[in-house]
Amino acid sequence: MFSRLATRPLATRPLARTLATPTKQWDRGMKVLAILYRGGEAARQEPRLLGTVENELGLRSWLESQGHEFIVSDSKEGPNSDLHKHITDAEVVITTPFHPGYLTRDLIDKAKNLKVCVTAGVGSDHVDLNAAVERKIQVLEVTGSNVTSVAEHVVMSILLLVRNFVPAHEMIERGDWQVSDVARNAFDLEGKVVGTIGAGRIGYRVLERLMPFDTKEHLYYDYNSLPAEAEKKVRARRVEDLKALVSQCDVVTVNCPLHEGTRNLVNADLLKHFKKGAWLVNTARGAICDKDAVAAALKSGQLSGYAGDVWNVQPAPKDHVWRTMKNALGGGNGMVPHYSGTTLDAQARYAAGTRSILENYLKGKPQEPANIIVGIGKYETKAYGQR
Ligand code: NAI
Repeated sequence: MFSRLATRPLATRPLARTLATPTKQWDRGMKVLAILYRGGEAARQEPRLLGTVENELGLRSWLESQGHEFIVSDSKEGPNSDLHKHITDAEVVITTPFHPGYLTRDLIDKAKNLKVCVTAGVGSDHVDLNAAVERKIQVLEVTGSNVTSVAEHVVMSILLLVRNFVPAHEMIERGDWQVSDVARNAFDLEGKVVGTIGAGRIGYRVLERLMPFDTKEHLYYDYNSLPAEAEKKVRARRVEDLKALVSQCDVVTVNCPLHEGTRNLVNADLLKHFKKGAWLVNTARGAICDKDAVAAALKSGQLSGYAGDVWNVQPAPKDHVWRTMKNALGGGNGMVPHYSGTTLDAQARYAAGTRSILENYLKGKPQEPANIIVGIGKYETKAYGQR
């Protein structure tokens, strides 16, 4: 794997900028607030569901044994929520992209004691990063913790769309058997052109995993180009214009972070440039794709299918059009709740990574450079837009 880490001069970053020290001495106690999803009975039965309110990322006894206060809740919306109530004096906020505590500029203004936001997972767009830069609040994530989990999900989603899997399974459940009804819209992935918007850790791993399928060509769109050797390894060709990329692809997969430059990137105008009947997979962030434009493209046949696990507000409202949209043949929908990056394997990694970030913070040790999205007063990552 040619990791982006190997291609960036991270070691040359000034160390001082990556260090935040606790307001208080570590042994005098601070308030840590975690906004996690409620796991219910499943979390009580399965302790490896670490990212839940019930299992608290495995942090409670460790934090409390050091005299810290640890508030864990799933309540995050509105002025009476635990997020709004406890943000006023929390020093550290932990949340996951699966049930994100949205740290808007307004909320950051109220967070007078806040020094560190930790994303237990990957993707920190739920924090107003520009406000964090201005307030000198660090934003850290457990980089790499679930990138393989997501890449596997992307490959699965591409296959289930191209092969028309969901309607075929639904037919069997209904007790029907009409092969032609599903075979009429089923294809092989072999020989198809696949393009990724974003060729970082996940995008690159998707291309790696597609190699045995004998796809025709791999294209990528990213302002950070891959090293030539890495391109060669996955037969990837960089296309500098996004419209030119999508117009050549049978399958497009979205693997870039959500930021000002990617919000609504896949909109009605861009969808017109897709090959008619292309398949689109988005496990990056819901707001990168225009909800209604995607539904309309599926209905009109401009897209044959759309799959992914990310929604522009989470939890997605019951009437969100992506829950039920279909193509003209009654298929083409591979949507699931946001879980591709929260397999039990991934949860073990991001829980351990969260603890390691907290340990570094409490001891005043430098954080892993790759985990720093926003350092003290500046972006440290090159993945959230060209700045
Ligand atoms: P990464 O930082 O390794 O790679 C992101 C790549 O996107 C970088 O190469 C960057 O240059 C590129 N990029 C940024 N803006 C772009 C633009 N406007 N056009 C094209 N490329 C652009 O990040 P990684 O680990 O690959 O994760 C990517 C995203 O996937 C995360 O930010 C997160 O939103 C999402 N994700 C989703 C998960 C899930 O459970 N569904 C879990 C983990 C991540």
